[in-house]
Amino acid sequence: MTNSKNILVTGGCGFIGSCFVKKQIAKGNFVLNIDKLTYAGSPANVEAVATNPNYRFTKADINETSLIQNLLNYNKIDWVVNFAAESHVDNSISGPGIFVQTNINGTYSMLQASLNYYKNLSPEKKNDFRFLNVSTDEVFGSLQENDEPFNENSRYQPNSPYSASKASSDHLVRAWQETYKLPTIITNCSNNFGPFQHHEKLIPTIIRSCLQNKDIPIYGNGKNIRDWIFVGDHCDGIELALTSGKTDETYLFGGEKELCNIEIAHKICEILDSIKPKSDGTSYKSKIKFVQDRAGHDFRYAISNKKSFKELGFKPSKSFDERLRETIEFFINK
Ligand SMILES: NC(=O)c1ccc[n+]([C@@H]2O[C@H](COP(=O)([O-])OP(=O)(O)OC[C@H]3O[C@@H](n4cnc5c(N)ncnc54)[C@H](O)[C@@H]3O)[C@@H](O)[C@H]2O)c1
Repeated sequence: MTNSKNILVTGGCGFIGSCFVKKQIAKGNFVLNIDKLTYAGSPANVEAVATNPNYRFTKADINETSLIQNLLNYNKIDWVVNFAAESHVDNSISGPGIFVQTNINGTYSMLQASLNYYKNLSPEKKNDFRFLNVSTDEVFGSLQENDEPFNENSRYQPNSPYSASKASSDHLVRAWQETYKLPTIITNCSNNFGPFQHHEKLIPTIIRSCLQNKDIPIYGNGKNIRDWIFVGDHCDGIELALTSGKTDETYLFGGEKELCNIEIAHKICEILDSIKPKSDGTSYKSKIKFVQDRAGHDFRYAISNKKSFKELGFKPSKSFDERLRETIEFFINK
């Protein structure tokens, strides 16, 4: 590949980062994966590329600024893609400190290391350099049922410690662009699902509960609405933003599939009823149990893909139902 890139990925042993790492290695790019390996990160997620000569791994915290700066220099990095984060809303409610430490201070550290590196690049390398911050639609707060979906101009109104920490990281990225002219891009994405997702998240929790014949916990009345995007589509969107997007811009990616949590649970139960029926002949749906709602639970998130479609050609690749079935099959065979 003539135009291959050297990419520093943070959090590449997590759910979305590992998908991005594998896709970029398959394209012939060099990837340096920096991951602290918290409870959410696993080297098994990138096992498929572990021995590829274009893949390197360093176990480190994104707050280790001088180490990151040395790694940027040594590996002649073209793109920094910042996935590393504490990512579970429930954990941010019970222990917000680490969310501030990783999502805010960690992003600051990555920006400083990148800026120090960027300043000494040749004009040609400067032109190619990108710092992309992987963010979430949760920074825009919550929608009512009939509100228009979020777009790139939606107001930041985070409600949870998690979304507030992600919003803060986006603000830092924007400031480093405006003040220091570091070439940055921000992407905000809806709820991801797919293989390798950590078992704490909604879809893996439902599938695991079914497979273990346990109660399926659903918050509140199950009516909270999320837009769902397949993880591979999200990673393709990030690549499009890097290759075809403009710096100092934000791009939103959604799956164009809004569902309430109880609908998701029903769909998973129906697929499992058909491909792995329970031995007693009852539906998995009988195991659904409504549990105490999450504090400050946002009612609805939805995303308009208009800009990312028009400017990047982004669109989800397959239907939600096809991807959900693939995801369930992955967890059955895991
Ligand atoms: N999962 C979603 O639905 C979703 C949606 C939109 C945006 N995002 C964002 O995408 C990114 C990735 O999300 P995910 O679901 O893959 O998360 P994840 O929790 O599965 O993975 C996070 C990874 O970051 C690593 N990490 C955590 N703290 C670190 C630190 N201080 N230094 C280095 N590595 C550290 C972990 O070890 C893990 O490998 C996050 O920034 C998240 O906010 C996620």
